[in-house]
Amino acid sequence: MAVILTNTSVSPGIFKMTVEFTGDVKPGQFFMLRAWDKDPLLSRPISVHDYTPGKLTFLYQVVGKGTEILARLQTGDDVTIQGPYGNGFPKITEDLCVVGGGIGTAPLYYLVRNYKAENPTGKCRVYLGFRDTPYGVEAFEALADEVVLDVGGIITHKLSVTPDETVVTCGPEIMMESVAKTVSAENTVYVSLEAHMACGIGACLGCTCETKSGNKKVCKDGPVFLREEVFYV
Ligand SMILES: Cc1cc2nc3c(=O)[nH]c(=O)nc-3n(C[C@H](O)[C@H](O)[C@H](O)COP(=O)(O)OP(=O)(O)OC[C@H]3O[C@@H](n4cnc5c(N)ncnc54)[C@H](O)[C@@H]3O)c2cc1C
Ligand code: FES
Repeated sequence: MAVILTNTSVSPGIFKMTVEFTGDVKPGQFFMLRAWDKDPLLSRPISVHDYTPGKLTFLYQVVGKGTEILARLQTGDDVTIQGPYGNGFPKITEDLCVVGGGIGTAPLYYLVRNYKAENPTGKCRVYLGFRDTPYGVEAFEALADEVVLDVGGIITHKLSVTPDETVVTCGPEIMMESVAKTVSAENTVYVSLEAHMACGIGACLGCTCETKSGNKKVCKDGPVFLREEVFYV
């Protein structure tokens, strides 16, 4: 159980929740959240948007029953959080290029902040695509060397990657597939997958995905995979 410090709307249908939590939290990992008893049955996976000791932040889109309940919670309320789960993004020492679409930008903020802290001279470029109202862009602008924004179009049409960059992408599958298939084979590309999850810890097979090396569990073996593992490039 964690105490909610803040839970506010940052854009239509998009909420930012900060809770009290201290632990070993890597960018790209996620927590299973619930603030209800039996309905809906399952906890909901939400990525780490940011973390400093004592403060864990989630950025989430209201899409159904679970996230609607989360959005109604107030400062001082309790929320059950289990995690952190998943492998997270590997340590990146090359220059970094991130490509995020919609709520897929959520886990990329902590990645970029952590990368800049660990690689003060490393370059970081950020591509952000939104269907309509953008959110969180200024936060990326405060950290990154360059931010390219697209609203209503196709962010990957603007993408150009240099040979020194490791690419990380999270967002709609069609966007990640496009990144996986168009970035040069010389670059390392990581994708962060979504799947319906029940347990979050590898026990139920609810999140199985096909990969080049057989079936894998998105919750335990992922959610971060090398592009060639899942998009067969
Ligand atoms: C590892 C991981 C990290 C995630 N991180 C975030 C995050 O940081 N912020 C955020 O807003 N969302 C994130 N999600 C998606 C989030 O878990 C779902 O949107 C949420 O579970 C929906 O719950 P609900 O009860 O509100 O909606 P439901 O009533 O369960 O579903 C509403 C709609 O969303 C679809 N949906 C539900 N769960 C998923 C899912 N896991 N993947 C794709 N579509 C789904 C359903 O098919 C349905 O169309 C993440 C998912 C995973 C697997
Ligand atoms: S959610 Fe249960 S195995 Fe992944």
